[in-house]
Amino acid sequence: MSSSLTKQNKLFFSLAGPHYDLAAAEIAQVFPGRLHIDHPFVILAPMKAVIFSRLALSHWGSELLFSCKDQELQAVVKRAPWEKIVKGSFAVQTQGITDKAALEQLIGACITHPVSLRQPDTVLMFCKGKQIHCAKLLWKNTEKFQDRRAHLRPGSSPISLHPRLARALVNLTGVPDDGVIIDPMCGTGGFLIEAGLMGIRSRGYDIDEKILAKCKANLDHFKIEKSSIQHQDALSLNDPISYLVTDLPYGRNTNPKGIADLYEKFFSLLGRLLRKRAVVVVPSTTKIIFSRHGLVEKNSFLIRVHKSLTRKILVIEPGP
Ligand SMILES: C[S@@+](CC[C@H](N)C(=O)[O-])C[C@H]1O[C@@H](n2cnc3c(N)ncnc32)[C@H](O)[C@@H]1O
Repeated sequence: MSSSLTKQNKLFFSLAGPHYDLAAAEIAQVFPGRLHIDHPFVILAPMKAVIFSRLALSHWGSELLFSCKDQELQAVVKRAPWEKIVKGSFAVQTQGITDKAALEQLIGACITHPVSLRQPDTVLMFCKGKQIHCAKLLWKNTEKFQDRRAHLRPGSSPISLHPRLARALVNLTGVPDDGVIIDPMCGTGGFLIEAGLMGIRSRGYDIDEKILAKCKANLDHFKIEKSSIQHQDALSLNDPISYLVTDLPYGRNTNPKGIADLYEKFFSLLGRLLRKRAVVVVPSTTKIIFSRHGLVEKNSFLIRVHKSLTRKILVIEPGP
């Protein structure tokens, strides 16, 4: 299976739930192009070559062969150029198709290549959204996010986001492969680890030296080389920032004047320094008037953590 595609074919992705809107937004940011959503799937006409492996919130990516209505499926399968599409042995996999046996029988009558369930050369995906989509598998997400969960890292933390979500938020900033991402309140380094594992350079700051020592242990553990961390109050940053991702403190009060004052100062700073895009996590109850800081909220997503905490993911850009 190839994990990149250079031709301008349409791509087809299966999104990981439950936050399908966030998963689709991640694809839109990583791969510029025209997006069509048919939950839990996305069709993308990409504008340039695609490296699938950055994606956190997609299960797999494929080349779209055709989309059709349920009642058209038989006729479309019968006239598809399978000899050109299928190389070597093949397998059929389905998502949301109710009568899998009937589909397999239909395919079996049309494709003469040998079937291999264990190691197929070609995997054909048949998926049911509003339409039926058929695609040729190119990439499966085998990233070991579970192994990097916060409590399994040497510098553990009860509040660091799940690595799958952390990676998606880094991607949501739109930081390119050769860009630099800043986390001004990096804590134990959840975002820095994910950026580093994608080969993206990063800089992290934190006001708490003990937490920074944990962050260093984590970066060393995952052999992240392109990240530098510094003991610094984020509110004293001065240089322009292109891409920023951060999870602002909420439980513990780290600012003598209170959390509301910290947020106010942080967004005012962001208004002065941000050049391209920031993704900031706050509690859902947070109210910010972005225009006051010369910023615009481009998008937001709610993620329920438990009964008394829902996180809001804010996608922010400089105002006009
Ligand atoms: C929610 S935690 C970040 C968690 C982090 N994403 C992780 O993976 O561990 C917020 C962090 O902001 C830091 N912090 C609070 N006020 C700060 C300030 N003024 N400047 C820099 N860091 C600050 C805290 O020490 C804490 O580590």
